[in-house]
Amino acid sequence: MQAVESSAVQAVRTSFEAAEHRREVWLLIAGYSGQIGRVLCRQLEARASGLRAQGIHLVVTGRINRREFLWRNPHDHGEETFARTTDDWPEILRRFLSSGKTPRLFVDCTANGAFVERYAELLKLGIGIVTPNKLANSGSQASYAALQELARRCSTPYSYETTVGAALPVLGPLADLVRAGDRVKRIEAVISGTLSFIFHRLNNGGRFSAAVREAHARGYTEPHPGADLDGADSGRKLLILLRESGLAWEPQQVAVDGLVPPELAVEIDVERFLAGLAAHDTAWAERAEAAHRRSLRLAYLARFDGRSAQVGVTHVAASDPVALLAPGENLIRIWSDRYQPVPLSIAGPGAGPELTAAGVFTDILKAAREILPG
Ligand SMILES: NC(=O)c1ccc[n+]([C@@H]2O[C@H](COP(=O)([O-])OP(=O)(O)OC[C@H]3O[C@@H](n4cnc5c(N)ncnc54)[C@H](OP(=O)(O)O)[C@@H]3O)[C@@H](O)[C@H]2O)c1
Repeated sequence: MQAVESSAVQAVRTSFEAAEHRREVWLLIAGYSGQIGRVLCRQLEARASGLRAQGIHLVVTGRINRREFLWRNPHDHGEETFARTTDDWPEILRRFLSSGKTPRLFVDCTANGAFVERYAELLKLGIGIVTPNKLANSGSQASYAALQELARRCSTPYSYETTVGAALPVLGPLADLVRAGDRVKRIEAVISGTLSFIFHRLNNGGRFSAAVREAHARGYTEPHPGADLDGADSGRKLLILLRESGLAWEPQQVAVDGLVPPELAVEIDVERFLAGLAAHDTAWAERAEAAHRRSLRLAYLARFDGRSAQVGVTHVAASDPVALLAPGENLIRIWSDRYQPVPLSIAGPGAGPELTAAGVFTDILKAAREILPG
């Protein structure tokens, strides 16, 4: 009797495990040791059992950074660690593809182009991509369109909501609007959490260099804050907004106005770059004071008026919603056929590792639901 019961229990367990395996999604996370990657791994771990109870079993099978590749097959025990080499991608991919039909997602949390050229290969293999990295969607229009087309053709998720506004729902709703036939006429946006933070401090009497240092310490900035201050990051985000609006624009069509002179912009050492900003404190304080005297505030805006697109410093009225943003907040205003004269406005905190990682997590969950069997 005992033997019959235990084999029945075993059969139930086996069928339960088989059902669980069918609900597995394997994740390969690049940049797991960065600001966003670290928080994401922590959030995934914290939510794992809750999600399992809902029938979604997210399994981090692989983690990559510049130095190592960590591999854990969920059905074996233990984790293997490999030192990275220049030609290890085929082996990484072989392991990631090793489990038959298990749905898979590649999560690119790097801040550079190390994996961007792999996206097409991954999509063709049916591996979905989730990323907060702007680079793949802010290159040429041809490469943007090719990836979109590939994801569509291969019915494979390609999710990058966090590339604009961090966890704010911006790109998805915008793309939905356009798919439903609306046409975007004009955009005005504060899309850099870093610059929103810095200009809030400046408008309230803060020192420019201290504000940048604080934004960096809070994890709002790109790894090198020069990438925010030279305007390139905002320029890329505006380009992505335009493309998600259905407009075919090239990077060089977006005019970019930076905040630091070229000789400082080229400084690659973060500490020396931050120290060099102090020389510009007086000039920025004078600009902010001059604006105040005219009841205006300084702002860094991304703008599209139907003909031209630019990111740069401008003045807004002290009562303008842009001037009233809390430090680090984003505001995206979109005028379209349907949203006029009052624009569609999306506002809220738009930077920081916790929020950005939470946005990446949301994208992972949406993608997992798309690829898991019904
Ligand atoms: N911070 C924000 O608020 C925010 C908001 C929206 C979007 N984002 C985007 O999120 C992404 C990550 O930002 P972050 O602040 O987390 O960057 P980060 O702290 O610099 O982390 C970058 C990660 O990428 C890894 N990495 C770099 N080159 C690599 C390579 N060749 N191969 C494998 N791994 C590599 C690094 O590994 P090592 O540890 O070995 O160096 C590190 O783990 C960026 O694309 C950024 O634009 C950030």
